Amino acid sequence: MASYAKEARLRLELKGTANLSSLRNALEELLGVSFSTDQGEHFFRATLVQTLFYGLFSAWVIHHETKTKAAFNWLQRLFGEIAKPAAMQAMNLVEVMDSAQEALDRVNRTAFFKNFSEERAVQYFYEPFLEAYDPELREQFGVWYTPEEVVEYMVERVDRTLRDDLGLSLGLASPEVVILDPCTGTGTYILKVLERIQRTLEEEGQLDAFSGQDLKEIALKRVFGFELMPAPFVVAHMRLNMQLKKFGFELGADERLGVYLTNALTGYTDTGSVDLSAFGEFLSEWQESNSVKQQEPVLVVLGNPPYSSFSGIGVKEEQELGNAYREVKAVPRPVGQGLNDLYVRFFRMAERQITQPKEGKQTQGVVCFISNYSWLDGLSHTGMREHYLSAFDQITIDNLNGDRYRTGKLTPEGKPDPSIFSTPYNREGIQVGTAISLMVRREALARCSERVPLPKRSSSEA
Ligand SMILES: C[S@@+](CC[C@H](N)C(=O)[O-])C[C@H]1O[C@@H](n2cnc3c(N)ncnc32)[C@H](O)[C@@H]1O
Repeated sequence: MASYAKEARLRLELKGTANLSSLRNALEELLGVSFSTDQGEHFFRATLVQTLFYGLFSAWVIHHETKTKAAFNWLQRLFGEIAKPAAMQAMNLVEVMDSAQEALDRVNRTAFFKNFSEERAVQYFYEPFLEAYDPELREQFGVWYTPEEVVEYMVERVDRTLRDDLGLSLGLASPEVVILDPCTGTGTYILKVLERIQRTLEEEGQLDAFSGQDLKEIALKRVFGFELMPAPFVVAHMRLNMQLKKFGFELGADERLGVYLTNALTGYTDTGSVDLSAFGEFLSEWQESNSVKQQEPVLVVLGNPPYSSFSGIGVKEEQELGNAYREVKAVPRPVGQGLNDLYVRFFRMAERQITQPKEGKQTQGVVCFISNYSWLDGLSHTGMREHYLSAFDQITIDNLNGDRYRTGKLTPEGKPDPSIFSTPYNREGIQVGTAISLMVRREALARCSERVPLPKRSSSEA
């Protein structure tokens, strides 16, 4: 599949996408990105190819597994637009898509689906695809799935923090808790959050064992995710739908989980109106994701944001996110380019979700990210650190080290210090050091701490 996808991308590069200009504009609006740079053009073509291939693949799976789900309406529309015979011919894609279809037809469906619904199979199916299809794109958007052990640890930490520090006795299952993973990828955080909630409801005897109705309600109304790329988006929906079945319930044909295809870093301000009249399915994806961004009183933001320094497709609203951390009060001004890192933008977006009141709700909550650890002592991040000392009441860092550049991935004793992202397929994991940051804001204390002046520091301490 990946080799056919690669072939399709090369053909698109040769033929160009001039005949898809209205689709291109609509996608820019929907995703809140710009395709005007070289990287943007690359991303546009990759979006088309991923949509075609994962559209084909998901249709093949969904045909086997379940009814069509509402979450894929827009994807079908996008697929339909690109797959129109005239468009396919103009882009010289007919032959390569036929070959991909024939490859799927050759699969032994019984054997495939026996393995496919097993734990982790869908996820493992996805990462090698992207690695083989477009390793550069994978690097650029930080498309590495997060090891399940890391996700479980973070979900448990958040659950415990909600109980112990915010007085929410059912943790993630408490009725006021709205959860967001803004970089959902293949959906592991959402899956583990739902598992944790199910366990709590069971322990508390609150789970309607026959219909799973309570859990379904929570899954549909209080758990959200954003993802920018069609391939992991499709995988996340497939995995989550499979998990829901294991919990004992299914979504109706017009129900969908709140995992949206959108840029997590835009859509909070200045959204105005967009002209997606020719693409109604895109419009509802855009409206619903914006309403989560602007109206849902999110209390927990958790996930694994991308690490790359620059995505090259960000619009102004996204680029401005790091600016909040350029302002300093009592620490040295930031130097260098570190605030342009994508993960810093995700931190800012998460901080805003927790600290800016929505619909009159209190501003308290938890941010838990695993990320590049450069912000902990970087000279670019002085303002970011200073900012968090007043925005949050409690900050806990698990420093996971594993930095190739600083330590050559060795401990002080000279033992191997691989990345926590190390897998049997990729022993080195990622190159930068990482840390899990858990930041808690309690409404009353947060107000109080803002009034306490920060101690003056020397530049060496900063
Ligand atoms: C490190 S991965 C997260 C992996 C995920 N936790 C999992 O286990 O599959 C980061 C994800 O963020 C997505 N991403 C990158 N930029 C984004 C943006 N601006 N908005 C939403 N998602 C984005 C990437 O496509 C990628 O899937």
